[in-house]
Amino acid sequence: MKIVVVGPGALGCLLAGFLKLKTTETVWLLDNSPERAKKISESGIRIEGMSGNHTVKIDATADARDIGLADLVIICVKSYSTEDASKEIKDLIAENTSVLTLQNGIGNVQILNDYFGADKVIAGVTNHGSTLLGIGHVRHAGKGDTIIGKSDGKLSRELKDVVTVLTKAGFPAKISKDIDSVIWSKLVINVGINALTAITRLNNGKIIAYEEARELLRSAVQEAARVVKRKRIKLSYDDPIQKVESVAKATAINVSSMLQDVLNKSRTEIDFINGAIVRHGKAIGIPTPVNEMLTRLVKIIEKSYEGSKD
Ligand code: PAF
Repeated sequence: MKIVVVGPGALGCLLAGFLKLKTTETVWLLDNSPERAKKISESGIRIEGMSGNHTVKIDATADARDIGLADLVIICVKSYSTEDASKEIKDLIAENTSVLTLQNGIGNVQILNDYFGADKVIAGVTNHGSTLLGIGHVRHAGKGDTIIGKSDGKLSRELKDVVTVLTKAGFPAKISKDIDSVIWSKLVINVGINALTAITRLNNGKIIAYEEARELLRSAVQEAARVVKRKRIKLSYDDPIQKVESVAKATAINVSSMLQDVLNKSRTEIDFINGAIVRHGKAIGIPTPVNEMLTRLVKIIEKSYEGSKD
């Protein structure tokens, strides 16, 4: 199988590194920066953390034509780059190519469906935690499930092949027949934790330790849960507030992905997380004032970066 991981961020490097290390598949990393791709090709991907220390040689490029047609393309770019990445990967896509998204937030599957057709797109979430420490250098910070599925709930040989290869690479994967539920269930967790940690610069655990932050978390999650209910999406847990608080506790020392972005002065995925709740809420007449406020505050932080990187 020829596998292309698109995006050299924390998850992209972790996945590409372990796919190359633990499977016999052909693995490429596609970057949008030729300089960075060259550096990663020369130095490899360095992984440290809970799965040990590894340096993995890998082919990286910024030109999809170097790679040619692929069997599996895994999209790991930030959600706001999905549209651009879709244009860049067109030379990878054959009739039987599967395009898997493991990105955060809501909206990526729709963009990929529009570009490539829903028959090619596999949606998914992964609960592995990773932190980018430098170019091609990543810390594996937490293990968790990876769940994938097709929007129409159908099973296919491609889906099973993707589960097999991810599992071999150390990302034990399962198939869900209701992948929308899985994606929204993760979204609600990110809605409660990410913006609040990014604004307060607190680790995940602190936002449930401080009463004022905990109240905001609860209000944001309640709004999201109302939107989800009205959209008739079934969450994979019964009590959203309890679930989000338990994730914050379990990941207490984590620097959330959005706080990592803010600390790196990088653009965040706010539009695809709290911003998505605001958009969906507006479309169905559910007020979401707390998510609107959190979205605006994160956007103000983004605007305040000196010499922003994005
Ligand atoms: O985005 C993140 O950081 C993670 O999804 C989570 C679960 C909030 C843990 O840090």
